[in-house]
Amino acid sequence: MEILSCQGVTKVFGKGDNQVTALNGIDLTVEKGEFTAIVGASGSGKSTLLHILGSVDRPTEGSVLVEGVDIGGMNASEAAVFRRRKVGLVYQFYNLIPTLTVEKNILMPLLLDKRKPDPDYLGTVVKTLGLEDKREALPGQLSGGQQQRVAIARSLIYRPALLLADEPTGNLDRKNSREIVDMLKFSNRNFNQTVLMITHDEKIALEADRVITIEDGRIVGDRSGDSVGRTISDHCGGPAGQRDGGLQGKRR
Ligand SMILES: Nc1ncnc2c1ncn2[C@@H]1O[C@H](COP(=O)(O)OP(=O)(O)OP(=O)(O)O)[C@@H](O)[C@H]1O
Ligand SMILES: [Mg+2]
Repeated sequence: MEILSCQGVTKVFGKGDNQVTALNGIDLTVEKGEFTAIVGASGSGKSTLLHILGSVDRPTEGSVLVEGVDIGGMNASEAAVFRRRKVGLVYQFYNLIPTLTVEKNILMPLLLDKRKPDPDYLGTVVKTLGLEDKREALPGQLSGGQQQRVAIARSLIYRPALLLADEPTGNLDRKNSREIVDMLKFSNRNFNQTVLMITHDEKIALEADRVITIEDGRIVGDRSGDSVGRTISDHCGGPAGQRDGGLQGKRR
């Protein structure tokens, strides 16, 4: 099932001499349950694309359909509800509310909608993310990796159509990065969660089912399956495909 479809998405920032074309005709479809990595040089348009997919920003031209609904046609309040219910956004910094407990932070999207959480699902998410003994802690009492896990739990609580992660491991050391990617993969495999993740880390990108490369606001590479390693190798100019050849077997 096609969960995301973009056609001719273009984004121009600024006017006149200050004009920047951040995205230049992006066509992209994503199937439900895909785990996609988005790679590309700094300034290539990755975050801009993610913001548009999450309805945080609007395209200058083009259309974005999520579960068949054109998100460009939404008014401001419809877009706010869409962001809360249909997309989970995870950033490099965790954006948790410091005065609320871990559990309240996780439940925040539901609380804003005055909805009752499903205790079984909450329990599964908390357990999956290894936060069982931290439910009553405040964010300031957690490590960076734990705070990022809370942010991921919060993004999963609505079972969103899309989980959009912008360099979720950018602020973490190797061990914590590994854990975060494992969590994202777990939610992908076990909840059939569709994930789009921006990363600069070639090893992390190698774990995705599909790798999209963006250059100057255009998609210049789109590989899946066994050719993922080659994308990373091309993109990073190193022998990642050879070095991590074993990962390819594990991925499928
Ligand atoms: N709000 C804005 N106003 C003006 N220009 C912007 C704005 N946001 C992004 N840009 C420009 O659009 C281009 C793409 O930016 P974007 O943040 O999408 O890049 P990126 O691929 O995420 O880079 P990085 O890897 O450094 O995070 C850049 O040239 C950037 O300067
Ligand atoms: Mg960015």
